[in-house]
This record gives sequence, C-alpha cells and structure tokens, in this order.
Amino acid sequence: MTTISPLRDFIVEFTKIHDSTRDLQTLQAKGASLLNTLVSRDDWLPEEFARPNPERYSQYLLHCDPLERFSVVSFVWGPGQKTPLHDHRVWGLIGMLRGRESETQFERDADGHFRATETTFLEPGEVAALTPGVNDYHQVANAFEDRISISIHVYGANIGGVARATYDPETGKEKSFISGYSSEEIPNLWDRSRERHAA
Ligand code: FE2
Repeated sequence: MTTISPLRDFIVEFTKIHDSTRDLQTLQAKGASLLNTLVSRDDWLPEEFARPNPERYSQYLLHCDPLERFSVVSFVWGPGQKTPLHDHRVWGLIGMLRGRESETQFERDADGHFRATETTFLEPGEVAALTPGVNDYHQVANAFEDRISISIHVYGANIGGVARATYDPETGKEKSFISGYSSEEIPNLWDRSRERHAA
C-alpha cells in the first residue's frame, strides 16, 4: 500500500523554499536535497502514476504550483524507451525513484550542430540538475531493456505547457513541441483521513 504523504511533504517544503529565495542556485541546491529525500523511499507513488505505456514513455503530472512556478512529474520508462535529444528552457531536477536512467548531455556548436559530451547513469535515490545556458540539451533513456524505470522530475514552470524543441543530433534541425501530460488526473494529496485510518 502506498502513502501519499512523502509527496505532499515534498510539495509543501519545496513551495516554502521557492517562496524564500530568488536565487536559482539556492533553490536548486535546497530542492535537490528535498528531492533526494523523496526518492530515497519508494512507497508513495500511486500505481496509476507508475504505469508504463508500451508505445512511448509516460509523463504524469503529480503537482503543478498554482502560479505555475514549478511542476512535479513522474516519468515512467518502459523497457528500452528513450527521449529524442531535447531542451527544457527552464531549470530542472531529476530524481531517480526506481530502475536506472541514462542521460547523455549535448553541447551545441555555433553552427547549430550537436556534440555528445558525456553519458551518466542515475541510480535510485540520486538527483541530477538541469540549468538553462549550462546543460539544457540532453537525451534520456531507460538503462534497462527488460524492466521499467521511474524518475521524478521538478521543473521551473508548468513543463507540460512550455514550448520547447527536439533536435536531430546529426543536422541540428529543430522541431518545436509542447509535451502536455500522459494523464488527465493528478494524485489526491489532501485526503488526510487515509493516513489516520492507516495509523
Ligand atoms: Fe529532459
């Protein structure tokens, strides 16, 4: 049985941090620490937001700040699924909940072509950061061919509504997209009676 309280606690604390600073580095550092706590346990993500789609990876909205200053999303990767090379245009934090993810970062040359710089792997409990102007181009994949992986992402906007782009890594050709989300529903964070009953 899952308990939603770790996600609710994360959202409450992250909102407080957001309200307390205008410095992106501070927000990302404190946010990364909170996200690390959230993904260091795997007993809270409701099953509806952990379901893979055999056709493509899923991105389920877990929470959007009422002022759209940030959003929290579960990415569910079926075996071998991956993104195209893409950008974000807002800051991001990626916390690994289950399985393993590979991230290949790219740099863009002045002529618009891309170069892969490094590939890293995220293990459960680990957190990585994305910062526009520093490391905003990457390709992400499930490192496993035989099981699902799940990561929890936090972005500095309502990411499902942000106009951004995918790129052909060979030619640099840009294709704009707005991701949206994989589900119409979001988790019910606020029925506190469930925890009372569980206790
Ligand atoms: Fe990404």
